Amino acid sequence: QSLGSLAKRLDLRFATAVDMAALADDAAYRQKVASEFSGVTAENVMKWEVLEPQRGVYDWEQADRLVAFARENRQTVRGHVLVWHNQLPAWLTEGNFSSQELRALLRRHIHETVRHFRGKVWHWDVVNEAFNEDGTLRDTIWLRNLGPGYIADAFRWAHEADPRVRLYYNDYNIENVNAKSDAVYDLVRSLRAQGVPIHGVGVQGHHTVGSDLASMQRNLQRFDDLGVETSVTEADVRMVMPADATKLQAQANVYSTMLESCLATPRCTSFTVWGFTDKYSWVPGWFDGEGAANILDENFQPKPAYHALRTDLALA
Ligand code: G3I
Repeated sequence: QSLGSLAKRLDLRFATAVDMAALADDAAYRQKVASEFSGVTAENVMKWEVLEPQRGVYDWEQADRLVAFARENRQTVRGHVLVWHNQLPAWLTEGNFSSQELRALLRRHIHETVRHFRGKVWHWDVVNEAFNEDGTLRDTIWLRNLGPGYIADAFRWAHEADPRVRLYYNDYNIENVNAKSDAVYDLVRSLRAQGVPIHGVGVQGHHTVGSDLASMQRNLQRFDDLGVETSVTEADVRMVMPADATKLQAQANVYSTMLESCLATPRCTSFTVWGFTDKYSWVPGWFDGEGAANILDENFQPKPAYHALRTDLALA
């Protein structure tokens, strides 16, 4: 049984981020995405720089290919991402637009994108990584030009374009109870109080073998108590290379804690790994000397983390 089918009984989607180049070129990769997972997220191809490389010129080709693949394999799709400060098109960041123009451009981007995928996407990451570690709002092109109200506006615009899609706030280092997750909690509570359509909070889950996730379950539960769903959206657990048996076991434990926290939370609806094989991973390119962050090795062989996740699902 696959991770996806083991999770089904628990009403949970077990998903992976997908690298579209690997999906096109590597049959073993493609076969694993199809057979092991019940959901997918585009690792890059639904980001603004890919969807609108030139102003007014849209390129849905790769994203549509992923959506079609998911449909063939009866997988859900998490849309990633509508409002972020990274992977924006150069025409936008270098365009010297006025605040008013930027607001209109963001509104149009959200409307066009959500409308394009209407009925095909289950969750959207509407706003991603809006907070600093201390809980203040991150200084981005959006905050600087639109003010803090851009967050509520983004959710309203997304809801206008597809009233049925589930809308998420998504961030990293908000797994535990801490200053940053406190700020997200306050944001969600205030948005709900104002009637803003927000339905979920995604905790990304980028960690290392040394991460302590002791308050993760309590944190997910407090969001659940607010009446929103939760999801683990980008799980991976990196280590300083080379890997050894001790680090691989520590890695399995961190993955397991994340999944168990989700399983213990009534409305935790999906668990997504940010890639599943060490053959394709963003980690070595971003963290010098680190890697082996995924649940299968470079040859698609299961690591201890894979077995630990299966056991968690089977016993839940
Ligand atoms: O597409 C270009 C290609 O044309 C060019 O030749 C190549 C040369 O470097 O770069 C390619 O773009 C890269 C892109 O991934 C696609 O592979 C970018 O350089 C690289 O920066 C980009 O990295 C992505 C990263 O987000 C950038 O923000 C990672 O793949 C992706 O895994 C990562 O994902 C983020 C989530 O969206 C949000 N949460 C954190 C997570 C990890 O950083």
